[in-house]
Amino acid sequence: MIQTALHKGKLAVFYQERDKEVASALLAEKLGITAYQSISKDTAEDFFLTWRDGRLKLLDKELLKKGGLSVDIEPRPGEQRSWPAPKKGALAQALGRKTKTVVDATTGWGQDSLHIFRMGYDLRCIERSPVMVELLADGFSRLSQAEWVNNLNAQVPELIFGNAIEILPDLEIKPECIFIDPMFPPKRKKSALAKKSMTILRELLGDDEDKEQLFEVALQMARKRVVVKTPNHAEPIAGKPSESFTGKLLRYDVYLIG
Ligand SMILES: C[S@@+](CC[C@H](N)C(=O)[O-])C[C@H]1O[C@@H](n2cnc3c(N)ncnc32)[C@H](O)[C@@H]1O
Repeated sequence: MIQTALHKGKLAVFYQERDKEVASALLAEKLGITAYQSISKDTAEDFFLTWRDGRLKLLDKELLKKGGLSVDIEPRPGEQRSWPAPKKGALAQALGRKTKTVVDATTGWGQDSLHIFRMGYDLRCIERSPVMVELLADGFSRLSQAEWVNNLNAQVPELIFGNAIEILPDLEIKPECIFIDPMFPPKRKKSALAKKSMTILRELLGDDEDKEQLFEVALQMARKRVVVKTPNHAEPIAGKPSESFTGKLLRYDVYLIG
């Protein structure tokens, strides 16, 4: 078991096909949770991991019948489908076009990481939630089999499981840039704009209350800059940043080092 039943009673593995029985039992054992072949409205857990449509998905009771959330490895709408994609837009400006090495210390659903990867940065990804690590490992494994990745012989980012506050100081090579996108409290309790994937993440994991500590460690461990992705309504994490790049609903605050 990789974590002391953090999600016991909240999350379970759910399998519908017999051929997933063994894999489901192994995953449930690894995460210290229960595996069910059928669930009803009386099932205690609210969240489920399941294999569906050839990928590992996270469901809540709303998504049980169909759908589910998985790590999406496809380029975002409007993103150039080449590799490396051009380093343009607020994220690339914040990371720095000349930057080569990046660590994403809060990988989550991997959407920023995969964007960073597709722009050709040399990337490593850290995630502390064992559930998200399973979903990410499934996504990165699909990515490693993608035709374009194989054709280009591109190296899929390394995924490191654990708390970045502890992992960053142990990295053998300090990255030029550390990117952090912690969970901030929402502006309103229920925001119509919040994406389902982020809502479910917050419900499952809660806010990242140690984000200031993570920022401090990142500042010591990055060689050139720390980039903090922040909702537009939130104050900068550590006073006035060196520069900020603003998107529609969010901001990238850049803290330059030295
Ligand atoms: C808001 S989500 C990140 C979303 C991500 N940028 C994306 O594009 O999908 C925050 C994630 O960071 C992770 N996280 C927060 N603090 C962390 C830490 N100290 N070490 C590792 N992971 C952390 C949380 O578990 C959560 O999955």
